[in-house]
Amino acid sequence: MAEELKKGNQFEGKEEYVKDVFTEIADYYDEMNDIMSMGMVQGWHRFMMKKAGDISGKKCLDVGTGTGEIAFHVARKAGPGSTVIGVDITPRMLELAEKKEKDLDLPVKIDWRVGDALDLDFEDGTFDLVTSGYMLRNVTDILKAVSEMHRVLAPGGKVVVAELSKPKNRIVRYFYNIYMKRIKKYGRKYDKGEAIDGRQPAYDWLTSSIEGFPYGEDMVRIFREAGFENARYHVKSFGAVNIYVASK
Ligand SMILES: C[S@@+](CC[C@H](N)C(=O)[O-])C[C@H]1O[C@@H](n2cnc3c(N)ncnc32)[C@H](O)[C@@H]1O
Repeated sequence: MAEELKKGNQFEGKEEYVKDVFTEIADYYDEMNDIMSMGMVQGWHRFMMKKAGDISGKKCLDVGTGTGEIAFHVARKAGPGSTVIGVDITPRMLELAEKKEKDLDLPVKIDWRVGDALDLDFEDGTFDLVTSGYMLRNVTDILKAVSEMHRVLAPGGKVVVAELSKPKNRIVRYFYNIYMKRIKKYGRKYDKGEAIDGRQPAYDWLTSSIEGFPYGEDMVRIFREAGFENARYHVKSFGAVNIYVASK
């Protein structure tokens, strides 16, 4: 599949492929996510909320919300009187988010909407906080997605984004590579190694999409180019994940 990668992790038909991947894995996404992150995912999300600052009663958007895990954290922190909207391009992921929400005692009802991160259906300056987790790897135009987050934020608003990255330390990276291979193998239990749209199986994509994907300082440059100020990143789990924080 490497020959398909034209620029970074972009290729012809990516948008359709990504939607098909997430439709395929939606029902076991949460279970596999916990395994893939070795249970660390909740810690990353708590850190995101710490970086979001005081959002009580504020307007918040989670882009690429998937099954809603980050949106749930936002709703708990923003509390009564807040607005929390979760947008995703894959309807099945949102159905599961809504289903999960019913079992949670959240202080505010989340508004789930099918939508595209590259063309957010909101007025300029609508939100005080925009969050996003592990979505940017999946879009066809990272700068456009980050620019849309900037556009819909009000002046003074904040963006907090989590994405996979690669550990810099050679020894850590050695173990990381072994781990990524393990995930692919484990993912076979779920994706059965079946090609999607004639391309690689779902869990091959989830791990290989990091190849050619910008992270660390390269991603911070994209946030600056999109118009954000004070863009910076925090390294988590020995560099397996970066949390980007910036303001408008
Ligand atoms: C790896 S999942 C992350 C889901 C969730 N944020 C989480 O933390 O578990 C990536 C999500 O991004 C969504 N996505 C991919 N491209 C998108 C786009 N262009 N617009 C909106 N959502 C998108 C996928 O449907 C999927 O639900």
